[in-house]
Amino acid sequence: AGRPRRRHTFGSRLLDGTPPGRALVLRTARRQVLKRTGGHYPAPLKILDVVRKGWGRSVAERLELEARAVGELAVSPECKNLLFLFRLREAARKGPWAPSGRAADVGKLAVIGAGPMGGGIAQVAAYNSIRVRMKDIQHEAVAGGLAHARSVFDGAVRRRSLRRREAARRMRLISGGVDYAGVGRAGVVVEAVVERMAVKEAVLREVEDVVAPDAVIASNTSSLSIDGMAAVLEHPERFAGMHFFNPVHRMPLVEVVRGAKTSDDAVETLAALAIRLGKVPVITRDAPGFLVNRILGPCLNEAGHLLDEGWDAHAVDRAWKRFGMPMGPYRLIDEIGIDVAGHAGQTMAEAFGDRMAPAPALVALAGTERLGRKSGRGFYRYAKGREKGFDPSVYAEMQLFSARSRPDPAHVRDRLVLVMINEAARVLAEGVVGSAADVDLGMVMGTGFAPFRGGLLKYADDRGVADVATSLAALSRTCGDRYAPVPLVEELARTGGTFHGTFPTAKSAARP
Ligand SMILES: NC(=O)c1ccc[n+]([C@@H]2O[C@H](COP(=O)([O-])OP(=O)(O)OC[C@H]3O[C@@H](n4cnc5c(N)ncnc54)[C@H](O)[C@@H]3O)[C@@H](O)[C@H]2O)c1
Repeated sequence: AGRPRRRHTFGSRLLDGTPPGRALVLRTARRQVLKRTGGHYPAPLKILDVVRKGWGRSVAERLELEARAVGELAVSPECKNLLFLFRLREAARKGPWAPSGRAADVGKLAVIGAGPMGGGIAQVAAYNSIRVRMKDIQHEAVAGGLAHARSVFDGAVRRRSLRRREAARRMRLISGGVDYAGVGRAGVVVEAVVERMAVKEAVLREVEDVVAPDAVIASNTSSLSIDGMAAVLEHPERFAGMHFFNPVHRMPLVEVVRGAKTSDDAVETLAALAIRLGKVPVITRDAPGFLVNRILGPCLNEAGHLLDEGWDAHAVDRAWKRFGMPMGPYRLIDEIGIDVAGHAGQTMAEAFGDRMAPAPALVALAGTERLGRKSGRGFYRYAKGREKGFDPSVYAEMQLFSARSRPDPAHVRDRLVLVMINEAARVLAEGVVGSAADVDLGMVMGTGFAPFRGGLLKYADDRGVADVATSLAALSRTCGDRYAPVPLVEELARTGGTFHGTFPTAKSAARP
């Protein structure tokens, strides 16, 4: 009873009620599933299969078909990897980083800087019922931050995940201004001003003057040193990094960056806050690029080297998507912004030297007016923020004039994934994070690394570290020293060890 009656129109009777109609519906559904999943997720296809086979059969027979399909899916590698990730995520959200259990409950948050990140952080906090004060130096910027938050709430209303009244009520939890009014009552202050050390230092000093004695201060910096900033503070122990990803409301990862002097309590408070905001916290040490950008950087730079070698960019993007990534490396560079990516690449090269020296093609592009999606043109063209196809004129902009060849997808996969595995091994060996689980959660939640593969290092373990080491060594002979397997990879290859076995999730994650 209660259910609305389905209206049988002539069209729906033709589609559902006749064998050719049903075949057409299933074919179309299959095509759509393949388009959305790239064929990497077997469950939706299996559902369509069960529907097709069950047509005209008895309920008992259909249940039998269903049960068999579930049994097959449950033992698939995709299912195992997704469950593996689910368990990592749940473990991270239960807080292996919480040795003292003294995380402060944050009743009010302050955000300094009302740009896209500040506005985004304020929105996520208000969405989760935390009162927020947003401070900037210009009224227009405050208005911009509020408008950004409102547009995210509007999106939730449009998608019907929130009622309009409820969205308005939560939006009212955000207030803004150009002074420090209210910041003194915040349990956590997140600094998200322009990425310039001198500005951040000045802002942090001001914040320290007005905050409550037990408040935690955090910086959302992507590339500046947390210890460098801590040096200007009187109480560096209550300061840490809290690195959100863009767009804040969509990206589930938060890197909580422990500086040399950060206290356990501060780390715990920020990680617990991240969880309250619906995010997955990964605790990292203060090192250039922290976790995710450190590992992603070499991959994007390698994509630049592929261009210098004459490969077709669009084909590279397609191959990387086929591997299971949400988008190809050039499409991702467009998304990040070519200027921002160029700047990050420069910082990484300064920190890590030759192996991260920016690829010439990317350096040439960074000097142009193509900034990626935000400017309407990058590797792709964009109109009203939507991608409108690959733009071959980008080659001339990079001073690349030779004909382009299509690469072997397996070559693209190895070039991009192996360089990340090698860097992840460095990150673990240096203790930037405490476990392979941290790396995998970071890469899946922060970059969308193929979830059905279980994560970057799960992929390496499944492939076999010995094979990873041999393939890296082969690439180091043809592509350069940056591929030389690092000692940890060689050791695991020699001993038959795995990343997850050698670096299991441990309570010590809060003190990597
Ligand atoms: N944009 C991203 O993709 C991204 C991702 C992660 C982290 N971050 C980091 O987040 C921070 C902010 O990023 P964004 O893209 O929102 O920056 P933005 O430069 O677009 O905005 C910064 C805001 O800070 C304000 N500001 C400048 N000086 C100030 C001061 N003294 N006091 C208060 N406000 C001041 C500016 O008016 C501006 O509104 C940066 O540290 C950035 O590295 C950015």
